[in-house]
Order: sequence, then C-alpha cells, then structure tokens
Amino acid sequence: MVNRREFLAGTSALLATRSVSGDSPRLPRRPIPGTRDALPVIGLGNSNAFREGDLETSKRIIGTLLEHGGAYIDCGGASRFVVAEAAGDLGVAEDVFMGCYFAGADDGAARDQARRLLEATGKPRLDLMHNYPEDAAPNWDTFRRWKDDGITKYIGVSRHRREAYPTMLEMMRTGTVDILQVNYSLLETEAEQEILPAAMELGVAVTVNRPFLNGRYFSIVAKEELPRWAAAFDCTSWAQFSLKFILSHPAVNCVLTETANPRHALDNIGAGFGRLPDEATRERMLEHVAEIVARAGR
Ligand SMILES: NC(=O)c1ccc[n+]([C@@H]2O[C@H](COP(=O)([O-])OP(=O)(O)OC[C@H]3O[C@@H](n4cnc5c(N)ncnc54)[C@H](OP(=O)(O)O)[C@@H]3O)[C@@H](O)[C@H]2O)c1
Repeated sequence: MVNRREFLAGTSALLATRSVSGDSPRLPRRPIPGTRDALPVIGLGNSNAFREGDLETSKRIIGTLLEHGGAYIDCGGASRFVVAEAAGDLGVAEDVFMGCYFAGADDGAARDQARRLLEATGKPRLDLMHNYPEDAAPNWDTFRRWKDDGITKYIGVSRHRREAYPTMLEMMRTGTVDILQVNYSLLETEAEQEILPAAMELGVAVTVNRPFLNGRYFSIVAKEELPRWAAAFDCTSWAQFSLKFILSHPAVNCVLTETANPRHALDNIGAGFGRLPDEATRERMLEHVAEIVARAGR
C-alpha cells in the first residue's frame, strides 16, 4: 500500500514545478464493463479555473491529477477548449479522458464543435459525449450515430437530480448507455436504491458528481473533528471521508471532484489510495454525518 508520507513528498514537488513526471503513485482504475478500458477512481469536475479560462491554475490541477495516474475530466462549453489547451501544454492530451457535454438537437453544430475539439486535443476521436437525460433521450439516435461514425468512443447521460432517475433507468435498459453520471454521497444516497444496482446489473460504468454537494458538505462539517476511526480506512480529511464512502460502493468507477485549488485536488486524489470502508463502517459514516446534520439543525 502507498505510504501517505511518500505520496505527499512526491506531490509537493509537483505543486512547485507544475510538471507531469509520472514518478508518483498511480491511482487505481476500475474497468468500464465490456471493454478493455478502465477509469482511474478520482476525476475532476468542471472547475471554475476551466470556466474562467485560467490556464495556469488549470494546468496545475490537471498536472496534479495526471501525475497520479488520473485521467477523467468532466467539462462542457468553453471549458472543453481550456482543458484541451492546458493538457496540450503539459504534453498529456492523449492521457486525458474527457467527458464532454454535447446537445443532440443540432447534429451539425455538435459535429462542428466535436471537430474543433478533436483538432484542439489532437485525438482521433472524443472519449465521451454525454448530456442530461432529458436532452439526450429525444436525440439518442443522434448520440448513437456519433458513436457509430467514430466521433466518440463512448456515449452517456449525466444528471444530479432524482427526477432524472426514471429516464436514466429507461435509457440504461435500452443497452446503449456506456457511462452514466449521477449524484451520490453521504448526504445524497438515493442512487443506491435503483440507479446503482441497475448499472451493475446492466454493465454500465458509473461516474459520480456532487461528492461535496457543490461545497455545502464542507460548511456542514466545518466545526467538526474528523473521527479518529477514519484512520482505519486511511482517511485524513473530510473530503476523503466523502470520497471514500462513494468509492466503497461497488457500482462506482470514478468520482468527479470540482476544485480550482491544486492543494484540494491533491487532498481529493489521496482518497483513491489506501483502504476503503467496509459495509459496517459505511453505516457508521452515514450515522455520523446524519448526527452532524441534526446537531447543526440543517
Ligand atoms: N451533469 C450534471 O447534472 C452535473 C451536476 C452537478 C455536477 N456535475 C459534475 O460534477 C462535478 C462535481 O460536482 P459539484 O459541482 O457539485 O462540486 P463538488 O465537487 O461536490 O464540490 C465542489 C466544491 O468543493 C470544494 N472542494 C473541492 N475539494 C475540496 C477539498 N479537498 N477541500 C475543501 N473544499 C473542496 C470546491 O472549492 P475549491 O475550488 O476551493 O476547492 C468547490 O467549492 C462538477 O464539476 C460537474 O463536472 C454534473
């Protein structure tokens, strides 16, 4: 198992140099069912650094992820091109797995955007074209054609609201969703009921969004000490407490963490190493966070 001191020693040098040396411990990967591909367990969400076109910060965050064997970056709109430029500057464009939001209603416009993105990344095809189920479902034949035409390797749906779950379930059952993105965490466990079991049964890879409720989780736990028993599963921060809970669900391939702070990126990557909580510990984590919420009156 990776020693945490060694892990942090390797990464502090990275933060100083912003390079991608490949010397650090590599994140574990989990297979995309039915394929030879696998996703590293920690990914990046659509960071404000990408949205704001902050190339230097984007490079530091992406460099930190890639240095540790990460790959998945979720991004839409203009962020896609910032990620492509940052990854290109770092020389890691080939190693990034981009989950990109595409609307299916205008096939021509989407193909044009895809062409420009392929030019920007230098890749022969995109990794994942996905969208909200309410937008993707009526245009699903178009998504399938993008895949059949070799524009993208994978297609998927992505949402963070339970109202979307029935459509997600229906689309998974058609057998053509490769990768599903859904919200799941200690404070949003609804996906456990049907979505995650169905994904496992139907062989659909799962990425998870909102691990920190878009930051609200940190204000909930802000005044609380991390429980000492978290050390039993190699957890050293509240961020890792959430991420290790998510990663201990067997349906999950990769959790997407949004940050514009390279040190937070490093903290989040740390959750991918070491032990994960077992079933009894997962229950204890849920109870512990529920007590904190009750105490805080939230
Ligand atoms: N398709 C959909 O419907 C959908 C919906 C929601 C989200 N998503 C995807 O999922 C990604 C993540 O979900 P989310 O947007 O809800 O964000 P999130 O990852 O749950 O939370 C992000 C917030 O947590 C903070 N943070 C991150 N790591 C931290 C750490 N180690 N310590 C302290 N604070 C930390 C960030 O602040 P700093 O910048 O200061 O670190 C930011 O304020 C999104 O970026 C997006 O790609 C998709």
